[in-house]
Amino acid sequence: MTQSAFRAQLLTFNGDPAQSPDAARFFDDGVVIVEDGRVSASGAWSALKDRLHEGALVHDLRDKLIVPGFIDTHIHYPQTDMIASPAPGLLPWLETYTFPTERGFENEALAQDTANFFVDELLKSGTTTALVYCTVHKQSADALFTASEAKNLRMVAGKVLMDRHCPEFLRDTAQSGYDDSAELIGRWHNKGRQMYALTPRFAPTSTEAQLEACEALARAHGDIFIQSHVAENLDEVKWVKELFPRQRSYLDVYDHYGLLRRRAVYGHCIWLDEEDRQRMAQTGAVAAHCPTSNLFLGSGLFDFDKASESQMPVTLATDVGGGTSFSMLQTMNEAHKVARMGGHHLTATRMFWLATAGAAQALDLADKIGTLAPQSEADFVVLDPKATPLLARRTARAESLEELLFAFALLGDDRAVFETYAAGARVHSREAA
Ligand code: GUN
Ligand code: ZN
Repeated sequence: MTQSAFRAQLLTFNGDPAQSPDAARFFDDGVVIVEDGRVSASGAWSALKDRLHEGALVHDLRDKLIVPGFIDTHIHYPQTDMIASPAPGLLPWLETYTFPTERGFENEALAQDTANFFVDELLKSGTTTALVYCTVHKQSADALFTASEAKNLRMVAGKVLMDRHCPEFLRDTAQSGYDDSAELIGRWHNKGRQMYALTPRFAPTSTEAQLEACEALARAHGDIFIQSHVAENLDEVKWVKELFPRQRSYLDVYDHYGLLRRRAVYGHCIWLDEEDRQRMAQTGAVAAHCPTSNLFLGSGLFDFDKASESQMPVTLATDVGGGTSFSMLQTMNEAHKVARMGGHHLTATRMFWLATAGAAQALDLADKIGTLAPQSEADFVVLDPKATPLLARRTARAESLEELLFAFALLGDDRAVFETYAAGARVHSREAA
């Protein structure tokens, strides 16, 4: 079997750094050995070099840092071209920019062109897995999966469901949304590395009939993902209260329809209360914290202390185009500041865990991605500590792993991503780009 080896500094995880001081595993002179798209071994070069076969291709990346591929748990590919569109808050932003932009995705050529660009932009940022919202059009999901499959990425995506409170031209019906989602699940879920996410946009844009259809699909397919938005903005929370007066809270609407469970991922989770957080923790539903979006749209500040106390699973996400960067490094930068505003010190080591192994664990994908452990799919990023003159000067003075990672998180972006690998194949090279 052909082997390839990547000799570099390595960072991987065997637990949550907030819970165990030994969770981060760092090798100053390390190697990742890849066979057949999977990691066959990783660790110290001195311990593993004898395992290399004669003729194994050894990539010498000794001045670089290899980390597991980043996982972005909430992003909208159709909003790629409308990133950085200003509006006074979420609801006007949806009306003014988002819905008119998403209308264009009934056109298959536009959808495919955008999906191809989007996938390249993820890889350029070191993101190898994302949970992706498409539009209401089923061909928009075909376009995204086609682009991802071409690069052999582990990707999770779904067609948006919305049958009310949006322009007529973007509406499905409870029945057509059910049928289209079922067809897409059949076509794409677990096809190679592709996985399906049932995607009701958010409670205000689905009728009770549509949420019941979601419940039925979720029950019929226990291993698909579910993704939606919850408690992002106070006007939105108020609106949900009016629309669903019988439900205790916004989150409780999803709970009522059986949509809180493992592999269910909810964007934002800013305005949850204690009971909501307990329900997330009990059911294994996951919060996708989207700091660049929350700051940009003025939605609010995610409370890291309360999230940690409740033990609800938390991950990091960009939420492009509400989010302002594809980069998970920039997302860490803003997550750190949002946490600081709440008096919580979020370390860089923990943010790297949240964006890799922590996300994989929360998404029930830890046996496949998120670490450099043997048998993992070989998705990883090669980071360049000298990517910019400033980063070079700062990382040269780093006296600990935490300082090195903190410099990447605060000063890094796509320029810091030297190469990206998916299933052992190089899918982005900064030099070649
Ligand atoms: N809530 C409903 N739809 C959206 C969306 O597209 N982006 C964000 N940030 N929030 C939403
Ligand atoms: Zn979103």
